[in-house]
Amino acid sequence: MSENAKLSLPDGQSLELPVLTGTKNEKAIDISNLRKQTGYITLDPGFVNTGSCESAITFLDGEQGILQFRGYPIEQLAAKSTFLEVAYLLIHGELPNKLQQQSFVDRVSWHAMIHEDMRHFFDGFSQNAHPMVILSSMISSLSAYYVEASGKASIENLELNSARLIAKVTTIAAFAYKKSVGQPFVYPRDELSYCANFLNMMFAVPAESYELDPEIERTLELLLILHADHEQNCSASTVRVVGSSMANVYASVASGILALWGPLHGGANQQVVQMLQQIHDDKAGISKYIEMAKNPKSDFRLMGFGHRVYKNFDPRASILKDACDRLLNKLGTNDPLLEIALKLEETALSDDYFIERKLYPTLDFYTGIIYRAIGIPINMFTVMFALGRVPGWIAQWKEMHEDPKQKIARPRQLFTGQTERSYKPMDDRL
Ligand code: ACO
Repeated sequence: MSENAKLSLPDGQSLELPVLTGTKNEKAIDISNLRKQTGYITLDPGFVNTGSCESAITFLDGEQGILQFRGYPIEQLAAKSTFLEVAYLLIHGELPNKLQQQSFVDRVSWHAMIHEDMRHFFDGFSQNAHPMVILSSMISSLSAYYVEASGKASIENLELNSARLIAKVTTIAAFAYKKSVGQPFVYPRDELSYCANFLNMMFAVPAESYELDPEIERTLELLLILHADHEQNCSASTVRVVGSSMANVYASVASGILALWGPLHGGANQQVVQMLQQIHDDKAGISKYIEMAKNPKSDFRLMGFGHRVYKNFDPRASILKDACDRLLNKLGTNDPLLEIALKLEETALSDDYFIERKLYPTLDFYTGIIYRAIGIPINMFTVMFALGRVPGWIAQWKEMHEDPKQKIARPRQLFTGQTERSYKPMDDRL
C-alpha cells in the first residue's frame, strides 16, 4: 500500500507527497513535483537530507556500520574476492562466472597501455605537479583518443570503455609517480595480475626488477576493494552530475577524480599522515592536538575522524586495521606514526567530545600507514583511492544513464542577494 506524507505550507497550500520505500525499508519523501505544484523548493546545504537518485549499487547503513556492494557484505568481498571481480560486480550487478571473469581480466590486461602520444603529455607537467592533477588531466585526455565514448552512446560500448578506464588508470598513476621521481616509465605486463602489474610499474626500474611480495599484493587488492564504491558521496555525485549533461564517461570520471582530491574527501588519507608526522615532529604529545580538535575557535580537525554517513563505525576501517597489523608484522615495520595513530585513536574514542559527535576513525585513518609500509609516497595516497574508486564511478555513471527518470542535474537556489538596482557609472561609485 502506498503511503503519503502531508505537507502544509504557510500560504495555506497543502499537498500529499508520495513516500517511497527502498529494499532495506529506507523511506524517502518524493518531492519531484513540489515546485511545479506549489512554487516552493527545498533547501538542504550539503544535501544532508537529499536523495539524488534511486540506486541499486551500494547499500550503507551508517548507524549500524553496514556496507554492501550489490547485496554482498564488504567483509565477505574483502575476504574472498579480487578487485576485478568486485569491479565487475559493481558495474554489471552480478558476480562474474568463470568465463566472464576471465574475459574481463583479459580485457583489462589488454588495454593497460596508453597511446604512445600520451607519454609526451607527462613532459608538460612540472616534476612537483600533484599526481591527482596529472591523473585527472590524463583520464580526461582519453576522451580525445576514444571519441566513440561520447555521451549516452557510450553506454553501448561501456564494457570496452570501462575496461580501458580500469586498466589505463593504473598505468597513468604509475607514470605520474615515475615522472615525480625522475625515473623512466615502466610499461604494463600482461602476465601479471592487476595489482602486481601496478606495483611493478611503480617500483621496477630498468636496472632492477621488482620483487613482488604476495602479502603486499593481497593488501593492495584489499585496499582497492574497500575503496571500490561508497554510494552518493561527493565524487560519485560529481560523476553523476557531470554525466547528466551527457558528458562522456572519461570526462565524468576525470571530474570525480578532482572532487576526490579535496582534503575533506579522498585527500583525507594524505592529510592523516601529514597530521601524524606533525604530531611526531612537534613532540608536544597528542593531547595538544586532541584539545585543538575540540576547540571551536581552532580550524584543526583530527583528519581521518568523522564521516558524513558513518555515525557508529566504518566497517572498512575495522577490516583495514587488521590488515594493517598483519602487514606491518610481516614486513617487520616499526612505524612511529602507527604508534601515534593508535594512541590518538584510543584517546579520541574515550573522549566525550568525539563520543557525543559520533566521530570514529574512518578508512583513511589506516590507509596512509599501509601505503607508507608498501613504499607509496604521500602524494600518491589519494591517487590510490582513485584507482579503487574507478569501478564505482563507472557503475554510478552507467546506472544514471540507464535510469528512465534521469534528468540533467540542475539544483535550485534561494536567492538572498540584491534586488534589482540601476547600474552606477564608475565616477559615482565610492
Ligand atoms: N575533528 C574534530 N571535530 C570534528 C571532526 C574532526 N575530524 N569532524 C567533525 N567534527 C565536529 C565538528 O566540529 C562539529 O562540531 P560542532 O557540532 O560542535 O560544531 C561536529 O563534529 C559535526 O561536524 P560536521 O563537519 O558538521 O560533520 P559533517 O558530517 O558535515 O562532516 C566530515 C563530515 C567532513 C568528514 C568531518 O567529520 C571532517 O571534516 N573530518 C575530517 C576530514 C576527514 O577525515 N575526511 C574524510 C571523510 S571520509 C571520505 O571522504 C573517504
